[in-house]
Amino acid sequence: MKATAIAHANIALVKYWGKRDEPLNLPAVGSVSITLEALSTTTTVTIVDAAEDHLILNGKPASRQQTQRTFDFVDLLRTIAGSESAVKIESENNFPTGAGLASSASGFAALTLASAAAFNIEPTARQLSEWARIGSGSAARSIYGGFVEMHHGEKADGSDAVAEPLFDRKHWPLETFILITSDVEKPIGSTDGMNLTRDTSPYYQPWIEDSQRDLANIRSAIHERDFEKLAEISEFSCLKMHGLAMSANPGLLYWNGITVDLIHHVRRLRKMGLRAFFTIDAGPQVKVICHPGDTSGIAPHLKGLPGVQRIIRSGLGGDARIIDD
Ligand code: DP6
Repeated sequence: MKATAIAHANIALVKYWGKRDEPLNLPAVGSVSITLEALSTTTTVTIVDAAEDHLILNGKPASRQQTQRTFDFVDLLRTIAGSESAVKIESENNFPTGAGLASSASGFAALTLASAAAFNIEPTARQLSEWARIGSGSAARSIYGGFVEMHHGEKADGSDAVAEPLFDRKHWPLETFILITSDVEKPIGSTDGMNLTRDTSPYYQPWIEDSQRDLANIRSAIHERDFEKLAEISEFSCLKMHGLAMSANPGLLYWNGITVDLIHHVRRLRKMGLRAFFTIDAGPQVKVICHPGDTSGIAPHLKGLPGVQRIIRSGLGGDARIIDD
């Protein structure tokens, strides 16, 4: 009747941008991510005797309008469970929401687990990932810890558009610094941004065609623990995704000036021999991924940079899981 789950955010190294189907939220391209220990969502779902569902987000009641997507998602799980009961959802992020820090990934992953447990369904991890994807594409990856691959899948019903663990976090304990340059909500979310890109960018088809190569290359870079190769593919995929978004009409520019300064800074650090690279999602924050052997050498170079409001440091996180209250 009541269950609490925790899930960690993830950042894609090979990016997901674009959908092959909207109602089922099927991605047009596969992606590869790392799960982050320091960024998490904890969600409690309680079956209640009430006329409608309630959502409390970071301690505040959320309006239906604000969070229709969450309520639609709970409807889906309720149907799967064959239940008609209303639920109370209490969800807490330990990081700022809506600023490109993938709160939807950890949020929908934790909600999937907690709802399934509260409704007494016992899904496999594959099913959990499939359902979480319907909430948000990147959430399918947050079901697992370590290094994770999301498949775009081929089937119309989406049953093969699921994430799978590639390696667990012990395989290569990379560290990430998240440099927060703004906590203002992004002007256009990922879903709308992807749709605009598909409808207007002349580069959308080439982006899809090129993605398979990046996936094959990153799998082998992770397998071989080849940091140089990992850096090259990740920065390529990141800049390619942002180039694609910029080529939509009107162009989508998720960066601010500090984001650009930080790209140059990270590339300078690499020239100095420090093993670090950047990646950026649909927001202005810059994530700096570091080789475990160089993290302490890199940290002082990220302190006190102009325009950086806050730094979050994170190792790799584990699987999403049910926790005791
Ligand atoms: C730039 O998973 O937020 O972070 O499926 O529409 O909810 P929806 O999109 P979302 O998109 C993530 C986009 C990205 C790249 C990535 O995480 O792969």
